[in-house]
Amino acid sequence: VTAEPLRFEDGALLILDQRALPGEERWIRCERAEQVAECIRSLAVRGAPAIGIAAAYGMVLAGGELPADREERAAAAGQRAGDLEAAADLLRSARPTAVNLAWAIDQVLASGDPLECARRLHREQEAADRRLAALGAERFEPGDRALTHCNAGALATAGYGTAGGVLQAAWEQGRLAQVWVDETRPLNQGARLTTWELERAGIPNRLVTDSSAGTLLARGLVDRVVVGADRIAANGDVANKVGTYPLAVLAERHGVPFYVAAPVSTIDRDTPDGASIPIEERDPSELGAGVPAVNFAFDVTPAELVSAIVTEAGVLEPPYDEAIARVASR
Ligand code: MRU
Repeated sequence: VTAEPLRFEDGALLILDQRALPGEERWIRCERAEQVAECIRSLAVRGAPAIGIAAAYGMVLAGGELPADREERAAAAGQRAGDLEAAADLLRSARPTAVNLAWAIDQVLASGDPLECARRLHREQEAADRRLAALGAERFEPGDRALTHCNAGALATAGYGTAGGVLQAAWEQGRLAQVWVDETRPLNQGARLTTWELERAGIPNRLVTDSSAGTLLARGLVDRVVVGADRIAANGDVANKVGTYPLAVLAERHGVPFYVAAPVSTIDRDTPDGASIPIEERDPSELGAGVPAVNFAFDVTPAELVSAIVTEAGVLEPPYDEAIARVASR
């Protein structure tokens, strides 16, 4: 019952409109890269790995089919390179924080065959998710109650999920009793998407307002905090959905492990530390208050508050700069 946020079919990218979930399963058909960029900007598709894969298919749409005839093919190749570069710029600029977006686009640019590359990235995401989920689940003990923030399940990765995958694997192994789900204001990815996924999987869950975390932890009702990531800097600082950093502070205060689950493609060694990660600020109107406002989409959790970073290449522990240099080539 793993949710599928996107499908490439008959030369078009079909995107499950996550803005309409859980009320309605509505699909958007994209035939041009511009439409994919708009879906990413407007959060019809969201979650770091999923927007990377959507962008990779967006590049396929921009590249088009090369003509079979050899001479026509040579003539079309130059035009196609220009189209791909333009699409890359457009897709890359759709959202700034998740490094998976730029990473996936670069992979397609470097490959000779956009469709083969996009399909491979899609397959590899699923494999990475399954592997890191299994490794993360090993940290759980029967009866554990976990707290998670935002949505880092299959909807967010186009695979099995990162933090969501860890929870799913822990549940299947009988090591998870219940999940506390942060609402995740202002767009309610936790309330709308994570609870939907957990219900489909039959995993007991309870929704709480974001500001309830302190009460839950103070009452000893949380055994582990598990979240995803949009970008992990070379020193192990983690950008994730705004509200993650306060959870890490609370977890430290109450002696509860704080895990970040992410594929190696979320690690960006070109970004030295959290202060260098671009943090998206979205339209204040999303807060719906009708007053002047600031709408940060992400925050940065310093590496020292992270108990472990669960990747498909292994579970990383401090010192993170060394652990990251071992698993991430770029
Ligand atoms: O703004 P969103 O919904 O794209 O934010 C998503 C998150 O913050 C996720 O936790 C992160 O991308 C990891 S998804 C596996």
